[in-house]
Amino acid sequence: MDDQTTYLNYAPAADRNKAPIWSVLNNYLKDNDHVLEVGSGSGQHALYFSSQNPTLNWQCADQQEYEVPLKMNLEALNPGGFTSPIVLDVQNKRHVERIKNLKDLDVVYTANTLHIMNWDACLSFFSMVGSVLRVGGRCCIYGPFLYEDRPTTESNLQFNEWLRQRSAGSAIRSFEDVVRVLHGLGFELLSDTDMPANNQLLVFQKQR
Ligand SMILES: C[S@@+](CC[C@H](N)C(=O)[O-])C[C@H]1O[C@@H](n2cnc3c(N)ncnc32)[C@H](O)[C@@H]1O
Repeated sequence: MDDQTTYLNYAPAADRNKAPIWSVLNNYLKDNDHVLEVGSGSGQHALYFSSQNPTLNWQCADQQEYEVPLKMNLEALNPGGFTSPIVLDVQNKRHVERIKNLKDLDVVYTANTLHIMNWDACLSFFSMVGSVLRVGGRCCIYGPFLYEDRPTTESNLQFNEWLRQRSAGSAIRSFEDVVRVLHGLGFELLSDTDMPANNQLLVFQKQR
């Protein structure tokens, strides 16, 4: 299949990173888990991960403007394999209430979203995750992060500058800030894995 011509909103990076992400993420997923993906974009990750483990109940969600192309991609590439994507802006209280009606969520997964959202939206995301996951559930976050005790790579410095120019609120997030907020919401950091192209996969578990 020629992914590039098949997907609407095709993201080349999602094709490059899907296998490395899966090799780590897979360790934190169990058969039949109910997974909510926030900011699914084109659905490339959802389609690939579900092809690797078809028992997963993978629920895509994204902002309104992604709904139609995302639904078309899922239906074209895995007919009948997904429930319809949920429209979700994490700062929209009505959307978040709808998400809270999802039962028994085992995992929330999100990729390349926290640096796009402004920090208030990130806080809304964390708060939503805290209220929708079951105790013992995991929150898996992929993307670039800045560390207090590690020099920032040149490519992430340039990327951060590009993000700030594109939108005032967008920025690569501080790893320590993310851990602090999620810790306050009852989460423990299970792992922080270095990924290709200066990205990380952070996995948190809800303790209470
Ligand atoms: C760079 S794209 C990443 C898409 C996909 N996850 C990937 O890795 O290719 C950023 C995504 O974050 C989503 N996003 C940004 N702000 C959001 C918000 N306030 N609520 C929900 N999703 C948001 C966008 O709609 C978009 O799908």
